[in-house]
Amino acid sequence: MNIDIENNDKLLPRHIAVVMDGNGRWANKRHLPRAAGHKAGVNATRKIVENCAKNKIQALTIFAFSSENWNRPETEVSNLMALFITTISGEVKKLHKKNVRVEFIGDRSRFSEKLQNSINESEALTVNNTGLHLNIAANYGGRWDVVNACKLLMTEIQNNNRTIEEIDEGVFDSFVSLNDVPAPDLFIRTGGEQRISNFLIWQLAYTELYFIDTLWPDFSDEHFAAALSWFAGRQRRFGKTGKQVVEEK
Ligand code: FPP
Repeated sequence: MNIDIENNDKLLPRHIAVVMDGNGRWANKRHLPRAAGHKAGVNATRKIVENCAKNKIQALTIFAFSSENWNRPETEVSNLMALFITTISGEVKKLHKKNVRVEFIGDRSRFSEKLQNSINESEALTVNNTGLHLNIAANYGGRWDVVNACKLLMTEIQNNNRTIEEIDEGVFDSFVSLNDVPAPDLFIRTGGEQRISNFLIWQLAYTELYFIDTLWPDFSDEHFAAALSWFAGRQRRFGKTGKQVVEEK
């Protein structure tokens, strides 16, 4: 599906961040195990990746597994880990053919060796691709990201590569995840909850937030198009007045 507003670069987000919520409820409604909801969620994920690639969106970042998701029942966690392995191995070659660059953000050290290998291989295969930049947040937390950036910066200072005086928002930004793509312009959360849930807390400072009740496995081409047209109608002020923004156009 190509979106009507495709040619108007200003109206299209460069970077979309998504919290794919509602897989469990989707399954419950159908008297299916939660794992079936996650599996159905993969289909919706494939669709949004294709739509972003087709519409020349620069980056898409999806929240696949939060640092807090380890607290779910053990069987759900192990089902999700197995799903990640099969999804990555089943999809990455197709993504590579579509010139998609795959990258993972988050602390991967807690994952099994098998999953870590799969992550590393998918990144290595697609590293030179110039199309959609697909970031998969796995064992990711926004607070972890900020603390991690602090640790990296402090190490730089300790090694005399930087001084405290040099640190500003731009420098700090270069140490958080996703520093090689613009900050998300549009955040989409499905499943009816209206919160950030420790996703990209630094990166979402000026992002337009779009919440819908639709459960993630039901997120369709039409829902994607509706989110893009909602975004196209937003006036992004970045602290300025509406009048200033209009006059600058
Ligand atoms: C939240 O729904 C969803 C997740 C925690 C998992 C999302 C993962 C996928 C869709 C698989 C994507 C795979 C790759 C490799 C990118 P929930 O379980 O919290 O739903 P609920 O709120 O209805 O219980």
